[in-house]
Amino acid sequence: MSGDFSYDKFSSVYEKYTSMVGKVAEADVTAAFLEQYCSGRSALELGIGNGRVAVPLSERGVNVEGIDSSDDMLKLLAKRTNLIKAWRGNIADFSSEQRYDLVYCVYSTFMQLFRREEQITCLRAAAEALDEEGVAVIEVRVPALDGFVGGQKTTTMFVDHENTLVNAEIHDPLNQNLFQTLLWFSGTSVTRFPERLRYIYHQELDTMAECVGLELVERWGDWTRGAFTDDSKRHVSVYRRTRPNP
Ligand SMILES: C[S@@+](CC[C@H](N)C(=O)[O-])C[C@H]1O[C@@H](n2cnc3c(N)ncnc32)[C@H](O)[C@@H]1O
Repeated sequence: MSGDFSYDKFSSVYEKYTSMVGKVAEADVTAAFLEQYCSGRSALELGIGNGRVAVPLSERGVNVEGIDSSDDMLKLLAKRTNLIKAWRGNIADFSSEQRYDLVYCVYSTFMQLFRREEQITCLRAAAEALDEEGVAVIEVRVPALDGFVGGQKTTTMFVDHENTLVNAEIHDPLNQNLFQTLLWFSGTSVTRFPERLRYIYHQELDTMAECVGLELVERWGDWTRGAFTDDSKRHVSVYRRTRPNP
């Protein structure tokens, strides 16, 4: 599995980080979007993390379950609620006895599966975990390959009086991989959070989905159902099954 880059270390700052970059503020609208696909009130989140989205979805009356590879992220979730059943596992290699209305993977977590084969096995497992009318929802960012010079790029992500966040990236085009390290300067110290990702264009995602028996039914540019256009920085893609489970 892609476990070489664990979220255990990042968990200590995850809530602060997601708040700084606007992801906490977005969680309610994300949950409102997802709730519409939960007529039977069941959902499974792949890479549930601290429950940023799962908790507000659960508060809307959906019985949310989740998988995550990081014990420390699961501890953050457990501190927030005891209503969500979550277990340690690899989203590239899971199976579930239960069938769900909705299986979802948000905040580009899908890219953390940095091998093509893992991305396909994740989609296959997601398809198998859906009930007959169920849907899979994947939110993934559009690859941003502009600005690389000699295969590297550095981006300033956030600056305030206390903090400076800089993302340093190396591009491996053969594997569609990005080796990135978030450098978090705070006061007089700096902390490094490395990560390896596989970027994926929406058409490749659709092809992978078709290979595992899923078809695209909707695609949006954000959680408020804004159009997906040339300028979109991400997409929210909704897939349904094309064939019954064995
Ligand atoms: C970007 S965070 C997203 C967390 C949460 N879904 C959210 O939206 O805030 C990615 C999460 O996926 C988990 N993760 C990464 N790779 C994984 C894998 N192969 N299997 C299970 N969880 C994984 C990480 O531990 C982390 O909690």
